[in-house]
Order: sequence, then structure tokens, then C-alpha cells
Amino acid sequence: MNVHSPHQSPLIAPSILSADFARLGEELKAITAAGADWIHVDVMDGVFVPNLTFGPPVLQKLRQYSSLPFDVHLMITEPDRHLKAFRDAGADWITVHAEACTHLHRTLQTIRALGAKAGVSLNPATDESPLKYVLDDLDLILIMSVNPGFGGQSFIPATFEKLRRVREMVGNRAIEISVDGGVSPKNSKQLSQAGASVLVAGSAIFNQPDWVKAIVALRAGE
Ligand code: DX5
Ligand code: ZN
Repeated sequence: MNVHSPHQSPLIAPSILSADFARLGEELKAITAAGADWIHVDVMDGVFVPNLTFGPPVLQKLRQYSSLPFDVHLMITEPDRHLKAFRDAGADWITVHAEACTHLHRTLQTIRALGAKAGVSLNPATDESPLKYVLDDLDLILIMSVNPGFGGQSFIPATFEKLRRVREMVGNRAIEISVDGGVSPKNSKQLSQAGASVLVAGSAIFNQPDWVKAIVALRAGE
């Protein structure tokens, strides 16, 4: 168990990228009933990452299927142009990529001014040190453990080193530290011990026959 975490066991945030897009509402309802803590929504623009998903109109329609916090991960360039639309559509947490923000501090302030929690994500090859200048302006750090764009990729082991450094930097501040990509019961315990307080998982949940068991297995680890 991670003693620094704001909560006892890691929060589980299923990524609906691995859900059935033709039945998203029902899948969202089912994953909520299966014990998810947050709903992780992967927004991709085909420019920042080589894939496309969905935007605010889809999010807004999905809102009625779950009252869990929507953890919206923006893998898009110029995120400032869309922050209000995502907030209006029902995003509770809005995470931008450090690599996509010229004025990260301003972007985080805008997210908070909209009444949402502000997150910053780092690609696997991005150093964490600039975050020390915005620690008072963010609520979540999302460490990518795969190159963003697709579900079902292999976990990059160097994530552990970055995660430990980020946990040290954050200390006891009320900042969630989330890990996204290739998370499974095989690495979930080690991740929470290294400082993760939120675990995002797509294929390790949606590709399993029993979602309740899959979420319990992620929380407990192997
Ligand atoms: C990747 C996304 C992840 C993805 C994780 O670009 O940010 O949220 O859905 O999927 P898995 O858990 O299958 O690696
Ligand atoms: Zn994500």
C-alpha cells in the first residue's frame, strides 16, 4: 500500500478506448456497475497522436450513463481551444499533454477557472522536471507508460523510475499520480507501491469476460 496516496488503494479508471464504440452508453453503465472509480476518456485528434476518437458531443451524450468522475485525457494539439467545450460536456478532470502546451501554466489555470481539476500528462520520453514549476497549479499527473495513441500496447519499464521521481517531487501534496498504458494485475501492485494513486486500464478490463473480477484484480495485483 502506498502511504503517500490520498486514498488507501489505487483508484481504477477504465479507459473506454477499449470499449465497444457502437454500444458506448451501455458499456459505460456496465463498467460503472462493475466497480470503476473513474471513467477515463481518451480524446485523440489524429495530429498529436496517430489515431482519432471522439469529442465533446459524444462526451455530453455519455454523461447520462454514469455519475462517476469523467477523467478526460486530451491527446490533442492546442488543447486551450477546446477546454471549455469539454468542461461544458461534463469533464470533471481535464488532462493536457505537457508536449502540446506552449504555456502550460496558463492552460492549467484555465482548466481550474472552468471548475475542473487540472492534469498534466507526460509521454514516455518526456522529463518530469518542468512539473516542479506548476505543482501548485495541478491536481493530477498522468504518466504515460506507452506511447499514446492506441490501447493494448506493452508497458514501458522505464516508467517506474519516472514514477518514483514524480512521487518524490509531489510529496504529500493532494495531487493524484496516474499511470496509463499497459497496466494489468501483473504490474498494478508494483505501480501503487512506487507511488501511483490512479491506475488507468483499457484492455486489462474490457478484454476480460468478467469486469468486476478484472477491476478487483487490478486493485489487489498479482
Ligand atoms: C493510450 C491511452 C490509454 C489506453 C490504455 O493512448 O491513453 O488510456 O486506452 O489502454 P491499455 O490499458 O490497453 O494499454
Ligand atoms: Zn489515456
